Amino acid sequence: MFGKKNFRNYVSGPRELIVEKQPKAPVSEQFRAVRTNIMYSNIDTEIKAVLVTSATPGAGKSTTAANLAVAYAQSGNRTILIDADLRRPTMHYTFEITNRRGMTTAIVNSVPIENIVRETLVENLDLITSGPIPPNPSDLLLSNKMKHLLKTFSIHYDMVIVDSSSLLETSDALSISKITDGTVLVTDVTENNRDMLLEAKNMLSKADANILGVVMNNKKMKKDNYYYHHGSEEK
Ligand SMILES: Nc1ncnc2c1ncn2[C@@H]1O[C@H](COP(=O)(O)OP(=O)(O)OP(=O)(O)O)[C@@H](O)[C@H]1O
Ligand SMILES: [Mg+2]
Repeated sequence: MFGKKNFRNYVSGPRELIVEKQPKAPVSEQFRAVRTNIMYSNIDTEIKAVLVTSATPGAGKSTTAANLAVAYAQSGNRTILIDADLRRPTMHYTFEITNRRGMTTAIVNSVPIENIVRETLVENLDLITSGPIPPNPSDLLLSNKMKHLLKTFSIHYDMVIVDSSSLLETSDALSISKITDGTVLVTDVTENNRDMLLEAKNMLSKADANILGVVMNNKKMKKDNYYYHHGSEEK
C-alpha cells in the first residue's frame, strides 16, 4: 500500500509522555526509531515540520506526536510541538497546562508568538496548545497566518511537530499537510481499518503531501496503563 521509501514503525505502549518518564522502555526506543526513520526518509529535502495524522479518530496521533516531540528534544534538537487539533485538542491535558491561549489566539488575534509559546519541563521542548476552540477551525488552518506561523517556527526551531484531527473526519489535516514538509500516518493496529487507511493515503497523495511513513500503534494494553482525561474543562 505504501511505497518503498515510506517507513513502517510499530509502537506499543500507553499514552502519556512515556519517552520522558521511561526513556529505557521498549516503546520509547520505538518512538526514537520513528525519529530516526523520519531523518532518513528524505535525504534531499530537509524535514523540519512534520504533521501527525490518521485516517480515523482515536488512532493515537496525539500520543505519537507528543512522544516523538520528546524524542527529538532529547536528542538535542530544539523542538516545538503544536496542537493543531482545533476540534478535540489534548496537549494541554498531557502537559498539564492551561489552554486559554494557543494557536487559535495567535491566528485570530495576531498575538505575538512569544505569548503563546510555552516551555515544557522537557529540556529543548516548547509547546503551543490549541487555544480556545473556534467555530471555524478549517478557516483558521487554511489561513495565510497559519502558513506564516509554521514557517516562522521552522526557522526558529530544529523540528516542528504538528498534531491534528483525523483525515476522514474533516479537511483540517489535509490543509496542514500542504504546509508541512512531511506527514506521518498513525494507525491503530487493533482495528481492522485497512480500507480507511488506504483512503487516507490516497487523499494525501492527491494533495501532493509527502507521506513519510506509518506508525502502527498497538493499543491493546492492560487497562491500568491507559491514560484518561476527564471532560473538557480548562485547567
Ligand atoms: N499504545 C497505546 N496503548 C494504550 N493506550 C493508548 C495507546 N495509544 C493511545 N492510547 C489511548 O487511546 C486514546 C486515544 O489516543 P490519542 O488521544 O493519542 O489518539 P488520537 O488519534 O489523538 O485521538 P483523536 O482522534 O481523538 O485526536 C487515549 O485515551 C490514549 O490513552
Ligand atoms: Mg488527538
